[in-house]
Amino acid sequence: VSFTILECKEFFMLRPKIITGNWKMYKTIEQTADFIKAIAPLVADNPFEIFLAVPFTAIQTAAQAAEGTKLVIGAQNMNDATEGAFTGEIAANMLKDAGAEFVLLGHSERRRYFHEDDALINLKIKRALSIDLRPVLCVGETLAEREDDKTQEAVKRQITQGLADLSARELKNLILAYEPVWAIGSGLYATPEEAEEMHQFCRQVLSELFDPDFASTIPIQYGGSVNALNAKVLMEQADVDGLLVGGASLSLESFSHIIHNSESTPDEGIL
Ligand code: 13P
Repeated sequence: VSFTILECKEFFMLRPKIITGNWKMYKTIEQTADFIKAIAPLVADNPFEIFLAVPFTAIQTAAQAAEGTKLVIGAQNMNDATEGAFTGEIAANMLKDAGAEFVLLGHSERRRYFHEDDALINLKIKRALSIDLRPVLCVGETLAEREDDKTQEAVKRQITQGLADLSARELKNLILAYEPVWAIGSGLYATPEEAEEMHQFCRQVLSELFDPDFASTIPIQYGGSVNALNAKVLMEQADVDGLLVGGASLSLESFSHIIHNSESTPDEGIL
């Protein structure tokens, strides 16, 4: 069997498709264990990678329950310092110690309610990378920015400043999540065309900051009111490489429906 250079290139550019549940501040340890036990067999044969970002207190239980399954457990935030007198904070190595393999950084709820700015998020990304904890950089415009025609400007700033002083090599495990703030928890979601346009824009920004080869390998997830009805059409967009699901990831029924409904997607992750 022989392959043309183009076919080889396409093969290596295949991006993984990842569906992530972000549980936010929901679920106890017991609820976490029960959920994972129940969902693991339902998604065992699924072609996607399935990630769950659980509360700090449930990471260890989740990681143990997920052992031997295809579920990957992560956290929703962390402090940028290695360690120190920072009452109430959690360090990156503590997340790894508990069994987290990835961490959401720069989620709009962190930016909005906890006043995280791009410079702080950049420090957190660097800290996560320094111990091989996979960062998921969340970006997205507010409603005011969209109405002011500043969508691209806002997202470009978040990507550029969030990834400042980092190289493509250091960022090889990065995941990007585009979550328009107006779509989060609102029941409003970007149309597939709007999502695809912004995902292409994010990839173009990555391409300008680093290089097109790097940009073509980074999975970009869509988040914001994803449900079992809109998941498939969003996933069918060429530059949508996965979903970041909030509310609908809390129930076993809706999360497994999202995963199964997305399944018959033709593989369009090839550029
Ligand atoms: P919803 O799916 O509840 O809109 O939340 C999206 C989100 O914030 C995922 O990180």
